[in-house]
Amino acid sequence: MIIQTINLTKRYGKLVALNNLHLNIEEGECFGYIGPNGAGKTTTIRILSTLLQPTWGEARVCGHVVGYESRKIRPLIGYVPDFFGA
Ligand SMILES: Nc1ncnc2c1ncn2[C@@H]1O[C@H](COP(=O)(O)OP(=O)(O)OP(=O)(O)O)[C@@H](O)[C@H]1O
Ligand SMILES: [Mg+2]
Repeated sequence: MIIQTINLTKRYGKLVALNNLHLNIEEGECFGYIGPNGAGKTTTIRILSTLLQPTWGEARVCGHVVGYESRKIRPLIGYVPDFFGA
């Protein structure tokens, strides 16, 4: 599993931006992550990029746990945000 999330949840105060996301993406898989404005896509990508801590749940990139092994994840990924600094 190249990307895995388990019960991934992010709250901004009272707002639940991401609610118990379960994702399993295999190596070599081409995965499109689509949804309406405000669905939580950028929040998900920011967590997977180690730029944001989840409120609850776990995210793994190449087996490394976001938040605990972020320094191992960062050299493995590239992220092009829609706005600079996002
Ligand atoms: N830093 C923040 N503080 C408070 N609320 C936020 C913050 N970032 C995002 N949100 C809110 O969290 C929810 C999810 O936002 P997010 O940006 O992840 O959605 P998105 O799917 O990327 O939307 P879009 O398609 O518009 O890019 C939205 O309700 C948004 O207003
Ligand atoms: Mg977005």
